Amino acid sequence: MKNIVVIGAGTMGNGIAHTFAQTGFTVNLVDVSQSALDKGIATITKNLDRIISKGNMTEDQKANTLGNISTFTNLGDCAAKADLIVEAATENLDLKLKIFKQMDELAPEKCILATNTSSISITKIASVTNRPEKVIGMHFMNPVPIMKLVEIIKGYSTSKETFDEIYEMSKTLGKVPVEVNDYPGFVANRILMPMINEAIETLYNGVAGVEEIDTVMKLGMAHPMGPLQLADFIGLDVCLAILNVMHDGFKNPKYAPNPLLVNMVTAGKMGVKSGEGFYDYSESRKAEKVSKMFAK
Ligand SMILES: NC(=O)c1ccc[n+]([C@@H]2O[C@H](COP(=O)([O-])OP(=O)(O)OC[C@H]3O[C@@H](n4cnc5c(N)ncnc54)[C@H](O)[C@@H]3O)[C@@H](O)[C@H]2O)c1
Repeated sequence: MKNIVVIGAGTMGNGIAHTFAQTGFTVNLVDVSQSALDKGIATITKNLDRIISKGNMTEDQKANTLGNISTFTNLGDCAAKADLIVEAATENLDLKLKIFKQMDELAPEKCILATNTSSISITKIASVTNRPEKVIGMHFMNPVPIMKLVEIIKGYSTSKETFDEIYEMSKTLGKVPVEVNDYPGFVANRILMPMINEAIETLYNGVAGVEEIDTVMKLGMAHPMGPLQLADFIGLDVCLAILNVMHDGFKNPKYAPNPLLVNMVTAGKMGVKSGEGFYDYSESRKAEKVSKMFAK
């Protein structure tokens, strides 16, 4: 594998592009939005500078990494030579089905089609293609260049050859792949999202404030980050979408998203990416309490 296409230049897409490019792959990064592409490249550049400042990369390596990445607003302009396409567009079933139909039409027959979806069925995504055996989940974690885990999710029809190839290739990226079967939320989000939803419920019920809840989980459970801050980093819209998929998939009320989460997403408060979530990121990147969130 040499030529990788990454679809979506948002939180995850730019991190995935960065990771492949730094390992020496040729990366074509695609987004419908030119400004998302510009922002994605700016984020990758900033993250590479941070690695240099820690003494873990040279200016030449940074230039090579950036030189490995090209950007496109049209998948048709770069899909023909792809060995692997990793889709990291917005977490929405209809959108992903549309994108996978396009990927299947435009990519060469040998190309593996992967999705970074957090929760949507790989089997369902694969069913709209003519190559379900070559469709697989590659669930990277945020921030991708730093986090070691990749859940490798086998759809019902994913072949052993496809699984083995992606599993081994993930190791060349310096990641630790974990084999997972295709059920809503897979492993990571099936366990994480109920905790985040419960933290939001705790806030909603007025049991404690944002910082207090996060402090309990950081100092009491040795979590590096509290669940509300983590939700801000993941994106509250992404958390809501994942909970909805698990709620629909298992028909179990325990996964129903808390009304406060629904309200915040409806109001455009998505967390870090929108500048405000449970904390305020507008003036500095430092998390600050959004006091009005407490007003009930
Ligand atoms: N945020 C996380 O922590 C996290 C972690 C693991 C997996 N994921 C998954 O990764 C995927 C992307 O999430 P994100 O957080 O990066 O979202 P995001 O909102 O930051 O970025 C999504 C990007 O997709 C682009 N896009 C939308 N439609 C497109 C299309 N048709 N073609 C090309 N680009 C398109 C948007 O312009 C946007 O730039 C989702 O499936 C999400 O569930 C997210």
